[in-house]
Amino acid sequence: MKIVVRPDPGAVAAAAAEMIGEELAVPGPATLGLAGGSTPAALYTLLAAADIDWDGVTLWLGDERWIPEDHPDSNASMARSRLGADAGGRLVAPVYGDDPAAAAAGYDSALRDLLAPTGGVPGTVLLGMGADGHTASLFPGTAALAVSDRWYVANRVHDTWRLTATVPLLASARHLVFLVTGAGKAGMIAEILDGAARYPARIVAEQATKVTWLLAAAAAAQLGER
Ligand code: 6PG
Repeated sequence: MKIVVRPDPGAVAAAAAEMIGEELAVPGPATLGLAGGSTPAALYTLLAAADIDWDGVTLWLGDERWIPEDHPDSNASMARSRLGADAGGRLVAPVYGDDPAAAAAGYDSALRDLLAPTGGVPGTVLLGMGADGHTASLFPGTAALAVSDRWYVANRVHDTWRLTATVPLLASARHLVFLVTGAGKAGMIAEILDGAARYPARIVAEQATKVTWLLAAAAAAQLGER
């Protein structure tokens, strides 16, 4: 596990963009799992302007809210609008419809096809973290956290549905990159990285082979000395 601290969210985005650019410069097909929420938006804008050949890259979503893709709160909508036509055109997103479980199963199947050319496991996967320790749409105490036989499921979160990658899929990634900014998450970052608190972000991270925590200083403020 690697912890990288940068002064502010802009520097976190720049560091992530540099790392992703280097990883995607390796010849051959590649995949990149995208985080939702607000943190990665600045990164996706930087990636849109980066000198990256997107032709061999497949983008997918670690989770999606159960709303139409053209809804402003959709992770796919945010990613596509920030990534631009070249990169955004490489994003394969879940298909919204009548039944979240069927949509999750359909995306699970699509991912198995999408990841087959690169060994059947995700390459780099970007993840965010909530102040409650959730990641993707794996929220504390929700059913999806216990799923071990599928890659993507519908998960009831508070009073809404979400579609999310499961722990097995995320943990199988060649490289998990958590992007965390904001003082409001500093306590949870300390609980997860210094303590043994079994929040979803830690449960996923501890089962992965290569994990980078890319933190803004405010989010790392309560971490102990290393
Ligand atoms: C989502 C995300 C979610 C997000 C965290 C952090 O759909 O919202 O996938 O897991 O990464 O909630 O969100 P912020 O980046 O907005 O703080």
